[in-house]
Amino acid sequence: MLEKDIENVLISQDDLRDIVMRMAKDITDEYHDKFPILLGLLKGCVPFMADLLKHLDFHLEIAFMNVSSYHGGTASSGEVKIDMDLGTPVKNRHVLITEDIVDSGRTIDSVVDLLKYRGAKSVRVATLMDKPEGRVLDFTPHYVGKTIPKAFVVGYGLDYQEKYRNLPFVGTLKPKIYMSEE
Ligand code: IMP
Repeated sequence: MLEKDIENVLISQDDLRDIVMRMAKDITDEYHDKFPILLGLLKGCVPFMADLLKHLDFHLEIAFMNVSSYHGGTASSGEVKIDMDLGTPVKNRHVLITEDIVDSGRTIDSVVDLLKYRGAKSVRVATLMDKPEGRVLDFTPHYVGKTIPKAFVVGYGLDYQEKYRNLPFVGTLKPKIYMSEE
């Protein structure tokens, strides 16, 4: 039913599986002896983080933060707000943030700064997707699943007005979906 609103599939379910396995291997090489905090940025991280952590065969702690910047539209508002803070102290801990997508870089840059300010031993970012053309800040994620063009995508955690997060793949929406909302 949701699939009928999709114009193009950008990352298929098979591709997602391969991407997650590759990232899990790279992350395991780096973190297997570090007992890191795997910090998910809600809500977009949920499918990616859930799939990723099943392939991380070492001790880790999970935590979540909810920060918002888009407020339901398709263009960044430029404001980042902490709606829910993580409950775990990060002082002297290695933190690996799992994010659905890095676009302007504002969201992730402020979260990284905050965690460093709180005394994290290291802070790195694993993002499923990177949209470097949207960048307004100089920020390079440490682990990238796939670099994509500057298009608005939905599915596998990413939403348009809170919808489509439950699609099992990533794709672009048909233009009529945006037009019918206006
Ligand atoms: P940034 O602060 O501009 O890097 O935006 C990052 C956040 O904006 C992501 O965590 C997403 O929640 C949202 N976002 C950015 N691009 C898209 C997109 O193409 N589709 C859905 N959400 C997006």
